[in-house]
Amino acid sequence: MVSRIIPVEPFDLVIFGGTGDLARRKILPGLYRRFCAGQMPDDARVIGAARGDLSDDDFRDMVGAAIEEFVPKDRRDAKTIKEFISRLHFVTVDAKGTDGWDALAKLVRKDVVQAFYFSVGPSLFGDLATRLHKHKIANAEARLVVEKPFGRDLETAKALNAVLASSFDEGQIYRIDHYLGKETVQNLMAVRFANVLFEPLWNAQYIDHVQITVAETVSVDGRGAYYDKSGAMRDMVQNHLMQLLCLTAMEPPSRFDPDAVRDEKLKVIRALDAVPVENIVRGQYGPGDDVEGYVEHSENPDTKTESFIAMKVDISNWRWKGTPFYLRTGKRLKARMSEIVITFKETPHSIFGEDAGSHANVLTIRLQPDEGMDLRVTIKEPGPGGMRLVDVPLDMTFADALGPEAEDVPDAYERLIMDVIRGNQTLFMRGDEVEAAWAWTDPIIAGWTERGDRPQSYEPGSFGPEDALMLLHRDGRRWREIRK
Ligand code: BG6
Repeated sequence: MVSRIIPVEPFDLVIFGGTGDLARRKILPGLYRRFCAGQMPDDARVIGAARGDLSDDDFRDMVGAAIEEFVPKDRRDAKTIKEFISRLHFVTVDAKGTDGWDALAKLVRKDVVQAFYFSVGPSLFGDLATRLHKHKIANAEARLVVEKPFGRDLETAKALNAVLASSFDEGQIYRIDHYLGKETVQNLMAVRFANVLFEPLWNAQYIDHVQITVAETVSVDGRGAYYDKSGAMRDMVQNHLMQLLCLTAMEPPSRFDPDAVRDEKLKVIRALDAVPVENIVRGQYGPGDDVEGYVEHSENPDTKTESFIAMKVDISNWRWKGTPFYLRTGKRLKARMSEIVITFKETPHSIFGEDAGSHANVLTIRLQPDEGMDLRVTIKEPGPGGMRLVDVPLDMTFADALGPEAEDVPDAYERLIMDVIRGNQTLFMRGDEVEAAWAWTDPIIAGWTERGDRPQSYEPGSFGPEDALMLLHRDGRRWREIRK
């Protein structure tokens, strides 16, 4: 495989919340890796901005330590770390006041690509955007990178969009959903739109159902205050699972360009049916041997927040009418496993008779771990004894198929940050898309809130609540196992 690292133009990237958790875990280690890959030009600079009183050197030490902690040892090199951190600067800035803005204005160059990453709580987005504008720091092409959560409902998302729009154009706003930066998620588009094999079958006539699972083993320990207000629906479904659903279900865009792709995703969201209560299962992990339950991680002893949700979603359009999409995500489940499973219909008639068994092709797109795809095809079981059918996998684990470079794929954040610098919005959410996603989500959440529904308890390390299994059983289907 030929490595094609395309260097980007010189840039100043300002990270508001530069000392925060996301910056330390993902953004700065990601930039270091792009630096190692030779993608950062000599005069690219990264500027941390936060409330803390840090010097450039303090910030560099902090980032050096973050790289030690979050970049695997075999990808670290003392000399390169030193070179990378020499590109870093720090400015103390008060997002809600006047301190630091003049210093930032002096530091940020006007004649390079400017990117401002809002790695802070959404309550500060408006303040930051307004001050960047007011202090004339941002030039006309400056890019704003906005982290999730983008609002907590339609109303707050609209307000956020409006406040950003008062200082910046939509073409400058990069709303991050890091699932769109994952290698396999983009591969889903390549598989669908760069092969003739699947697209003719990619519809309700040939696909029985689709399952999208994002299972995690982590708990919400340490994030209880945030999670209590969000739950799995806001934290995962409204954004990450919705994006996976959109890319699976959308019509082929005419070009792989930002608005063509986002127009098609938007149409899918707008075609989603309201979800009746019987098609939703909410769960909350209970305590287990030696592990605490959700209640212990929450700030509210009577919490009704869901750490798990499964739902059956119908899309009312010509392509998908009659083919359900089952979504499922949860914390503290049996394994960390994210995948999209497309189960095709059985052949209309089995020429081999009932004894040969019935079989359906299944295409599994594995997001993590072991990124890759697996297509189960039906063949004859070898040997004598007549025609017995058996399913075998055509497995393509990217690391096996594409060699060591496939193991070195950029992390979602690395890719997305470089897209910001390049000015490519294809993998970012447009304002109307986020609003449409909330418009679908809001009544679902309002339903269980008004009814006062309590999520069902499930055992840590399990597949989630029993009722989630029933959601498929009652349709004569079953979930793919959550496996290690
Ligand atoms: C985040 C959610 O957006 O995505 C977290 O807030 C979740 O709750 C995380 O754990 C999952 O991301 P990934 O890349 O580890 O699958």
